[in-house]
Amino acid sequence: MSLILGIESSCDETAAALVTSERRILAHKLAGQEAAHRPFGGVVPEIAARAHVEILPALVEDVLSEAGIDVDEVDAIAATAGPGLIGGVMVGLVTAKGLALATGKPLIAVNHLEGHALSPMLAQPSLAFPYLLLLVSGGHCQLLFVEGVGRYRRLATTIDDAAGEAFDKSAKLLGLGFPGGPAVEAAAKSGNPSVVPLPRPLVGSAEPHFSFAGLKSAVLRARDSGRYSVEDVAASFQQAAIDCLIDRTARALRNADGATALVVAGGVAANQSVRAALTDLAAERGLPFVAPPQWLCTDNAAMIAWAGALRFEEGLVDALDAPARARWPLDPSAEKARGAGVKA
Ligand code: KG4
Ligand code: ZN
Repeated sequence: MSLILGIESSCDETAAALVTSERRILAHKLAGQEAAHRPFGGVVPEIAARAHVEILPALVEDVLSEAGIDVDEVDAIAATAGPGLIGGVMVGLVTAKGLALATGKPLIAVNHLEGHALSPMLAQPSLAFPYLLLLVSGGHCQLLFVEGVGRYRRLATTIDDAAGEAFDKSAKLLGLGFPGGPAVEAAAKSGNPSVVPLPRPLVGSAEPHFSFAGLKSAVLRARDSGRYSVEDVAASFQQAAIDCLIDRTARALRNADGATALVVAGGVAANQSVRAALTDLAAERGLPFVAPPQWLCTDNAAMIAWAGALRFEEGLVDALDAPARARWPLDPSAEKARGAGVKA
């Protein structure tokens, strides 16, 4: 059994956690920075990086003392090394390097997307490789065939906005505030999803990818028409986004022979309606559906420690000169999706 200290700082959550290779979460802590970014209606990279510098050391001390663990007792120090906002990534990675240097323990430079991709296994011990993963977050929207630790085949990605980005931008357009995903979900609960006619970009398309930019523009037009309530636009947007996610996932399932389960991860996976629609799709295809608990969907350090634990068990440790990367695709051999704005 190994015990890993994990650090996450790639966006606006500062987080630390202690997790064992046997799935025990000894402690995990998270400090959000919503209040600092709210006045700007989105995450300001420079503010995020400075906040990580201030918050992270105490957070690491907190998880160690809560678990009653001395830093010398951990087997390795894992930190997100990308992709993400580079200033924040550097803060977490350099903190981990300092701890690794001081303790003589190995460093594990974790790909944030791998943290999301493996997080369902932390909560669901019966989940086995390979599985089809819908990874939906603020920065990414991908379908991945997950074959093992470090072995990912990207089947689809977005040609413009990520799914969470579409929720965030639509929330902003509708004056629902920041962070947008939970705000849209809450407003949608009292709206009618079939009132506002909105497009479903790429639904039914022969190419495998996602697109959300046109949907966002249609939300703007619906708002400006003055014909609909904010709640109805939110509900109709959410339904359109879900229809896109389901259509593309259903298509990918046709190319995912051998998948043991349909799995979702990333911040948008916290959305109850997204989970319900995927549950139905999996049931239709006779596959188990696995979603991490909501707190494990949005950014956290337990998933980084867990990915670190799986890597450590396979002897995958990194040198102290491991780089911080703004971009870091999980499947470097994946063909470029058409268009610009491909995030990783
Ligand atoms: O995984 P995550 O915490 O950070 C990234 O790696 O990007 O994902 C954050 C994204 C944001 O775009 C946020 O609006 C979205 O996940 N999100 C949601 C919900 N909760 C978070 N989107 C829809 N419904 C939610 N309940
Ligand atoms: Zn994330």
